[in-house]
Amino acid sequence: MQIRTETQTPAETGALGARLASFLRPGDIINLSGDLGAGKTRFVQGLAEGLGIRGQVTSPTYAIIKEYRGGAMPLYHFDVYRLDRLMDLIDLGYEDYFFGDGATVVEWGDKFKEVFPSSALTLELIRHDATDKRDLTFVFSDIRWQAVVEAALR
Ligand SMILES: Nc1ncnc2c1ncn2[C@@H]1O[C@H](COP(=O)(O)OP(=O)(O)OP(=O)(O)O)[C@@H](O)[C@H]1O
Ligand SMILES: [Mg+2]
Repeated sequence: MQIRTETQTPAETGALGARLASFLRPGDIINLSGDLGAGKTRFVQGLAEGLGIRGQVTSPTYAIIKEYRGGAMPLYHFDVYRLDRLMDLIDLGYEDYFFGDGATVVEWGDKFKEVFPSSALTLELIRHDATDKRDLTFVFSDIRWQAVVEAALR
């Protein structure tokens, strides 16, 4: 199933993340796909804000994984852009995050599709040259996400 929307500004993308965050549960996993500058990190900043996490959220491109605590639940933020091998993700202990006590978001998750359970939500962001508009498509097979995404878009 898919639900499409678009945002016109970075603030709008953040606000959508913040609204979605209020419906998250521990163990939720979101795969963020989309090109450089599509708005993946901006969306995660919104999620963090929605969970009540204070402090700056930046792309963990070099760190690969960052943990944010102090909100409604821990937020685990992966950016696997620089990871080439599945083994590296396994060595990082990704399963402890994915199936742990927080919500997980993975920038460039499509590189390692095989690690995502069927219950995961995928968000594809598409950037258009010379405009701030972003096309956002939520893709999922777990029916729960339909209610969550619809509520977040309301
Ligand atoms: N509608 C929009 N939604 C989100 N970001 C937007 C939008 N319009 C413009 N932007 C700008 O696009 C950039 C998105 O950057 P961001 O770091 O979120 O992208 P990213 O997908 O995480 O990239 P990377 O793959 O490098 O990590 C920001 O500079 C932001 O201000
Ligand atoms: Mg990013």
